[in-house]
Amino acid sequence: MNSPPSTLNIRNCRIIELPRIVDSRDGIISVAEARRHIPFDIRRVYYIYGLNYFHSIRGLHAHRKLEQALFCINGSVRLDLDDGWRQASIKLDRPNVGIYLGIELWHKMGDFAHNCILLVLTSDYYDESDYIRTYEEFLTLVHSR
Ligand code: TYD
Repeated sequence: MNSPPSTLNIRNCRIIELPRIVDSRDGIISVAEARRHIPFDIRRVYYIYGLNYFHSIRGLHAHRKLEQALFCINGSVRLDLDDGWRQASIKLDRPNVGIYLGIELWHKMGDFAHNCILLVLTSDYYDESDYIRTYEEFLTLVHSR
């Protein structure tokens, strides 16, 4: 598991590095603006927190149309990505460095630090019918392209 590389060899995703605004005062501001830093209009924001177990697993799905941007704004998490051909694992542990997750990417989160807060910006409202929840269906879909 590595900290984010500058590029990912997985389709439909990439690293997003947000600005860090530092001035003479204590503290840092990072900002994410739609269509500037985030490559879609943001319709929904959710966050995952309250993780008690390092070995918990979340995710385990892909999306048909939804685009997302993930930022671990506190603590750290490992993100496993699979585009149907290639896999990559990335540790998110910097509040200003996240991942753009486009469509049809199987993803799983694990190795949660107990203080992890994973912030997710998404391109649309929650819609269960947009989820692909079995790996077999995901592979069938992406390999049929
Ligand atoms: P899910 O996206 O499967 O979580 P994760 O990827 O972290 O494992 O969502 C878990 C549950 O929460 C599922 O029953 C749907 C519900 N949910 C909503 O109702 N609205 C939302 O915006 C999200 C993200 C989830």
